[in-house]
This record gives sequence, C-alpha cells and structure tokens, in this order.
Amino acid sequence: MDHFAYRDGRLVCDEAPAAELAERFGTPLYVYCARTIRHHFRVLRDAFAALDAPPLLCYSVKANSNLSLLRLLHGEGAGFDVVSGGELLRVRAAGGDPKKVVYAGVGKSTREIHEALAAGILLFNVEAETELERIDACARAQNAVAGVALRLNPDVDPKTHRYITTGKKENKFGINLDRAERVLRHAQELRGVECRGLHIHIGSQITDPKPYVEAIRRVLDYVASGAPGTERVRWLDIGGGFGVHYRSQEALPAAAFAQAIVPELAGRGLNVILEPGRFIMGNAGILLTRAVTVKRSGERRFVICDAGMNDLMRPALYQSYHRVWPAAGQAPPADQGARDGHGHVDVVGPICESGDFLGNDRDLPEVAEGDLLAVFSAGAYGMSMASNYNTRPRPAEVLVDGAEARLIRRRESYDDLLGPERECL
Ligand SMILES: Cc1ncc(COP(=O)(O)O)c(C=O)c1O
Repeated sequence: MDHFAYRDGRLVCDEAPAAELAERFGTPLYVYCARTIRHHFRVLRDAFAALDAPPLLCYSVKANSNLSLLRLLHGEGAGFDVVSGGELLRVRAAGGDPKKVVYAGVGKSTREIHEALAAGILLFNVEAETELERIDACARAQNAVAGVALRLNPDVDPKTHRYITTGKKENKFGINLDRAERVLRHAQELRGVECRGLHIHIGSQITDPKPYVEAIRRVLDYVASGAPGTERVRWLDIGGGFGVHYRSQEALPAAAFAQAIVPELAGRGLNVILEPGRFIMGNAGILLTRAVTVKRSGERRFVICDAGMNDLMRPALYQSYHRVWPAAGQAPPADQGARDGHGHVDVVGPICESGDFLGNDRDLPEVAEGDLLAVFSAGAYGMSMASNYNTRPRPAEVLVDGAEARLIRRRESYDDLLGPERECL
C-alpha cells in the first residue's frame, strides 16, 4: 500500500501533485511520502504483535539514511540497524536511542567499535570470531562489557537475487552454524563481551516466508540443544529482507510473514528484533526525472532522462525492475511488468555507460522532451546508493505529508562536488 496515485490525469504524492514538486524543487528529485512510511512501520509492528513480547523494529538505515526519515521513524518508536560509524552518527543526529541500536557489518573497524561502545548500543551483531576478540579488547579498554549477538549463517536459500542473498554458506556474512558452539564457548572466556543474542539476516526482497521459517528453526534447534553459552541468549534478531512491490503486486503482506514466523517463536521466551529496510521505504518513495532527449535508432526509441545510474543504481547493479511512467495522463497498467522485454522504449540516463538505464524494453505512451517521468518504488536503496559518478551533483529529497512538502536534503551544488579535494601541484 502506498499513497502515490493518478488523480484527474496527474500523479500525486499524498495531496501534492508531482508536477508542482518538480517545478518547485527541480529534477532529478526523490519524493517520499510520510504517510506511507508510517503505514508500513505500523503494519509490520502490528503483524508481529502476537509475539510473547512486542518486537523491537530496528529500521535498517542503509535502505535510506536521510536524517528526517530517521527522525520520523524514531518518533514511531523504531530502533535502528546500522553497519558503520557513519550510520550510527546519523541515528544519533536524528535523536535515535542508542539503546535500541544493533550493529552488523562484516568489517567493523576498531574505531567504529569504540564509538559504538561509547554510545552504549544494544547489541553488536558479530560476524567472525576474530571480530569478537576485537570487540572484547575494545570493551576492556573502556572498562565496559559489550552486549553481543552472534550472526549465524543458517545456510538457507531465500530465492532472491544472488547479490542480495546473505544467508548461504558461500556468502561472506555471519558464522557457520557448525562453528557456533566453538565461538560461544570462546565468548564465555572473554570478560569484555556477553553473548545475549543470536542474529540471522538471510537476504533481501524475499517474497516467501518459508526461508525465514527454515532459518529460524535451524537457529532455535541449536538453542534448544542446550549448547554451552545458549542459556544467556535473550534476543533473537531475525533480520530484514521483507519484499516490496516493484513490478505489480508480487510481495506478500506483513501478515503473511507474521503468520508463518510467529508460531515458530511463540513461547520461547525470546525478545525478537526485526530489521526491515526496504519494506518500510521501498514503496514510499519515487524518483522524478525529466526527459532531456528523445531519439530513435531503428525500431528502438530512447528516452534519455536527467536521472541516471548515479542517482538510482539498482537497475544497473541488479538489473532490477522499476515501473517508469509519465507523471501526466493515465496511471500505468497494473501489469506493466509482465510486458517487460516486449516494449520498444529504453528509458536511460545521461551517464557514459551502456549499463545506465532506468527501464529497458518498455511500452510507454509517447514521451516528449521536457516531460516529467516517475520512477516508482525508489525509496529504498535509491538515494543511499547514489554517487557523484560523472561528477554529477546528487539529487534533492523532499518529504510530503498531506499537502505539505518539505525539502529534507538540498540538491548538491558544484561547490559540494569540489569541496573535499585539495590541489597538490
Ligand atoms: C544485516 C541486515 N539487516 C537488515 C537489512 C535490511 O534488508 P531489507 O532492506 O531487505 O529489509 C540488511 C540489508 O542488506 C542487512 O544487511
């Protein structure tokens, strides 16, 4: 569910017409809908409310790390899942509570560990035995005890894109289940850490609850085996990964995941953490872009836009699908995705790479130069992955709530582009 719709021949975000936003703030422009973000957060929270205790929803900051959005989610009661010192900095700048922060990431630096310890975060999600030792050393240096959760690799296939599969043995993430006992035993010998939880995150854009159930069963079987160290486990962090609609209505509602997952966890006496990113933000944002040049080459038509892979990297990185459609006129057909591969229009960016596209082989109404297009479902892993490639300023971001639109990040300037560099000759 989202609040982007076509009304009277024009696209609106909640009560704000897309064309007016583009006129006022320029393009390319990320537009987020506060009502949709709140809705997704509440739906997920309520779906899992039947657990023994209300779950802690730690929004995954990497999906979209804009301070205003973090502040909005903090206001909803969210905790945060971070993977770097920079993300922790953002959470704190947005007023987030460090006691509701979990910290994953396969390459935490010593500096980052010190900062997270000093902030007093809830749990380090530990990805390797040597990392556990490093956290222990940092904690002892600060006369502190770090709460940790072992990130276990349950070796299940979430059946998603291979770049966003994270819970299989061949992935770099977590500790294999068959090594868990040894690492837990080791943790007991270290004075600076206390293993209070277990963590899994099997992948992203998952549209089937079965892999979660399988992974959770593997971890709970392990806990039930009574292996040394498991008696202190109070938290089970089941990660994020809940899929969203990109093509049409392919994702499952939160309730469908909860119906399968909650019975597995009920009665275990564990506090449950969820780390949703995409589920909250994916369908809550669009990218507005103008057609700069329209040209033909044989049968093909190219619509070259002012947004490219530096603004929205997902199509180039994962060949991922985003609906792309003019902001004026009728709504796109619900099955636009089904016709992918049979259309005649390539909607591409201005970057000097053939992989720079927003949507290939699309059926699109006639588009003229200057027309405004919307790239849908761009709220997650859009702006947070944006870069300055081709020395292009990153886009502005706007948050709409009702009819009100607020600029929550200004467009980068040419000064921003050159700012960090020093002349060396
Ligand atoms: C540890 C961890 N938790 C949560 C997430 C969020 O995933 P999603 O946005 O699919 O919910 C990720 C994404 O990569 C992750 O690595």
